[in-house]
Amino acid sequence: MTASALSVAMDGPSGTGKSSVSRALARRLGARYLDTGAMYRMATLAVLRTGVDLADPVAIADAAAALPLSIGTDPAAEAVTLDGEDVGDEIRGARVTAAVSAVSAVPAVRDVLVDAQRRIAKDAARIVVEGRDIGTVVLPDADVKIYLTASAAARAQRRNLQNITEGRGDDYAGVLADVERRDHLDSTRAVSPLRPADDAVTVDTSELGIEAVIDRLVAVVTERTGES
Ligand code: DC
Repeated sequence: MTASALSVAMDGPSGTGKSSVSRALARRLGARYLDTGAMYRMATLAVLRTGVDLADPVAIADAAAALPLSIGTDPAAEAVTLDGEDVGDEIRGARVTAAVSAVSAVPAVRDVLVDAQRRIAKDAARIVVEGRDIGTVVLPDADVKIYLTASAAARAQRRNLQNITEGRGDDYAGVLADVERRDHLDSTRAVSPLRPADDAVTVDTSELGIEAVIDRLVAVVTERTGES
């Protein structure tokens, strides 16, 4: 790959393999990597720690106004800190996962985080930015926009398998219900609903392994930018 400036927007629902694929793609492209979902998770943790009512968007907005969060962009090493504390594990826990949809639906939270995301992307010559609204809102002029998708059943199956592997039990029906609930919340919310940008390339990962998806995405980047 030549090392010219490059921005890749990676959007889509959870359970498509988006995070693993985005990190791997960034490594293949010699690019930085930004996980915007981690930023919403950190904001949620900060809000939870202040103890405000999750049904009160004004209180959430106040808590989010001065977020002491910092996030690294090395695709080989996650670095997420809140007030200097490493919160990499805590932001993936059940407490944050249950509250993140409510916090990420508050416009003032999105304003703060979108500004930060644009600044980070601007400072990196080459970057893969992963989220839900990157191609539509955060980087509407991204060089390449990809929308990763997969059937709800395929996504639930992957998540359930991961739960089993990590000792959280086997509950396919419960996981499927949660996948469908989160899809509904993310795609029907008033602010930045989850949808593909008009100029995004949609890749369905239901039947593809991770390596096949990465190869396909590298091919899309090559097609769109002429990089080889
Ligand atoms: O990708 P993830 O599961 O870590 O994302 C956590 C939550 O944050 C998810 O409910 C969707 C939300 N999110 C968002 O609203 N906008 C983004 N750009 C990224 C994530």
